[in-house]
Amino acid sequence: MIVLGIESSCDETAAAIVNDKREILGECVLTQLEHKTYGGVVPEIAARAHLDHIEDILEETFKNAGIKPQDIDAVAAASGPGLIGGVVIGVMAAKSLSLALGKPFIAINHLEGHALAARLTSDVEYPYLLLLVSGGHCQILVVKNVGEFERLGTTIDDAAGEAFDKVAKMLNLGYPGGPMIEKMADLGDENRFVLPRPLQSSGDCNLSFSGLKTAVRKIIESYSTDGNIEHAILRKQDVADICASFQKAATEHLLYKLKKAIVLFRTKYPQGKDLVVSGGVASNSYLREKLKQLAETEGLFFSAPPIKFCTDNGVMIAWAGMERALKGMYNNLDFKPRPRWPLDENAPKAAGAGGVKA
Ligand code: KG4
Ligand code: ZN
Repeated sequence: MIVLGIESSCDETAAAIVNDKREILGECVLTQLEHKTYGGVVPEIAARAHLDHIEDILEETFKNAGIKPQDIDAVAAASGPGLIGGVVIGVMAAKSLSLALGKPFIAINHLEGHALAARLTSDVEYPYLLLLVSGGHCQILVVKNVGEFERLGTTIDDAAGEAFDKVAKMLNLGYPGGPMIEKMADLGDENRFVLPRPLQSSGDCNLSFSGLKTAVRKIIESYSTDGNIEHAILRKQDVADICASFQKAATEHLLYKLKKAIVLFRTKYPQGKDLVVSGGVASNSYLREKLKQLAETEGLFFSAPPIKFCTDNGVMIAWAGMERALKGMYNNLDFKPRPRWPLDENAPKAAGAGGVKA
């Protein structure tokens, strides 16, 4: 079985082809650089760029896979959640191919793509505990099977990646901020600034990053004579120390809530053995190392997709498509792309689970 996957829900135009032996036959990712000047993704510019590049990306993917479109068995596309203008482009391309080739179409929830990616590269078995940390989402979930999720916790305000991006913006480090924060943090003292650990007494597995972001803003303000962060005078070492302190606080917050989630996971799914992290923030090596240590202490196997498959890519969509295709889970061509699409929308709500950010 061979599946093509298309991703266009944010600022990556990407495609990949995988087979059921867990081999990646071909892939191609284009990260849109058009947004850098704006310090964030501009939806209309993203949609136009997807339209400009989707054909070339598909052609390149088939070229590097060394196969013809007729050789695939199904076409999958990230069909939400995301920036709808971009999602529509990928979905239309996939539906057109599906119709022209007479092969089934599969609508993939972008978050399911992140959630299942680790199963392509590691031997992760259902059910597993997942920390999904990206630019738009931050959730702790149990992945019970394809399309079956139980959400144990979610952010009540910003996503983890969003917080990295906002802190980077305040420090003029550019967009996306996560990789720059990590790079600067390597040079910094993580204990120099004391930052809050949010929602410590809430008792649930929910997360929050806005207080952390505000605390960083206050530190930067203290370096300016008029309280305006634009006028703050920071040495390179100060910036590095802020990045390191923020990265430590964000990681510790995630780990604190994850420990609570592990207790719940163990009680509800005693057969579960794996802890997985995925999404763009999962490329952060500091977070990966701390999660690995946590898993070891808790007697769980730790897995994460290779760094290049943590940020948005076509491989995760193709693989989620494969998992669905193997179960015959196809969609009709009248499937409507969904700007909002919670992963666990059909699941009974976990006790204490908070507001939806999907
Ligand atoms: O999964 P993704 O590519 O897109 C969404 O689905 O949102 O995640 C992008 C997010 C951005 O917020 C980016 O700053 C963050 O992932 N990110 C990182 C790192 N690399 C990317 N955050 C922390 N450390 C990194 N190394
Ligand atoms: Zn993503």
